[in-house]
Amino acid sequence: MKALVLAGGSGSRLRPITHTSAKQLLPVANKPVLFYGLEAIAAAGITEVGIVVGDTAAAIEDAVGDGARFGLAVTYIHQDAPLGLAHAVLISRDFLSSDDFVMYLGDNFIVGGITELIDEFAVGRPEAQIMLTTVSDPRQFGVVEVDEDGEVLGLEEKPPDPKSDLALVGVYIFTPVIHEAIRTLAPSARGELEITEAIAWLVDNGRKVRATRISGYWKDTGNVSDLLEVNRALLENLATRCDGTVDGSSQLIGRVVVEAGARVCRSRVVGPVVIGAGTMIDRSYLGPFTSVGEDCEITESEIEYSIVLRGGSIRGVRRIEASLIGQDVEVTPAPRVRRAHRLVLGDHSKVQISS
Ligand code: TTP
Repeated sequence: MKALVLAGGSGSRLRPITHTSAKQLLPVANKPVLFYGLEAIAAAGITEVGIVVGDTAAAIEDAVGDGARFGLAVTYIHQDAPLGLAHAVLISRDFLSSDDFVMYLGDNFIVGGITELIDEFAVGRPEAQIMLTTVSDPRQFGVVEVDEDGEVLGLEEKPPDPKSDLALVGVYIFTPVIHEAIRTLAPSARGELEITEAIAWLVDNGRKVRATRISGYWKDTGNVSDLLEVNRALLENLATRCDGTVDGSSQLIGRVVVEAGARVCRSRVVGPVVIGAGTMIDRSYLGPFTSVGEDCEITESEIEYSIVLRGGSIRGVRRIEASLIGQDVEVTPAPRVRRAHRLVLGDHSKVQISS
């Protein structure tokens, strides 16, 4: 069995971060989301992996390389435009050949791995094995109707009137019959070849599609609030470690990781918190569920439930929360002017200020 990891897309929900970065490389607990997926694939015993890449190909290729450090052999497949999940399969036909494959959405985060899904597929040998989870608002997801035995009866993409509260999770297993289904597709109203429609075609044409209910935790990290939530969930299991330096007047409470070369001075850190290599925290408060990347500087500031990417500089700011701060971003108070905000914001930035 092969794996096809989708790491292209337009990432419009994470703008402006995705104007310059690949969303699949955004770190949760200071490790790219994509790496957790690649590790799950390797843990399931799969070695041949195709990664579909788009505009951010260079960054993904830089980060993952040939895959050897995950125990994988990676082939990159270039998608000219994000024309849909089924389109990604269509252009990967040569790589996939006539093999069964796992399709894994590179911005999805799943606890518990994919071994169970693969085992179920091996027993039932359906044409497709999909993963499901219950969601509170199914209208935003691909929704699946399933019988008591786990046989799929129907699927709908973002239905206004959902028939169940079971949503498709971003991992699927297909036999080569999926290529036959994809050949019948036309672009949907949003201009994409929809994998949901291809799976619906299998069901409508009497092919066996089975579903596995996910037992663990799943999130699509395609928007800021879900990304922060995955970061929180991962930090819950953090093991305390200090490879950097913490001065005598600082207080570290709960589970905190201080990476090599990081320094904490005259500060209070209430875990779980991870502080990246080479980062300086001075006269500041870091609150629970915060991940600070490498080479950041946080001085005389307060921040909690946030992700700060590499090279961020936050000085004299109280208080930041529930925020995603991009690479090399600088946040400071406006000098000399009280109660004024001076902003240089990239296209599609979102700022919520206290005023
Ligand atoms: P989505 O998050 O559904 O799509 P998107 O990346 O275009 O994001 P947004 O809705 O915010 O604009 O994609 C799921 C995963 O599949 C993600 O890792 C990107 C990848 N993908 C591709 O590789 N090719 C595609 O054509 C599409 C639509 C997505």
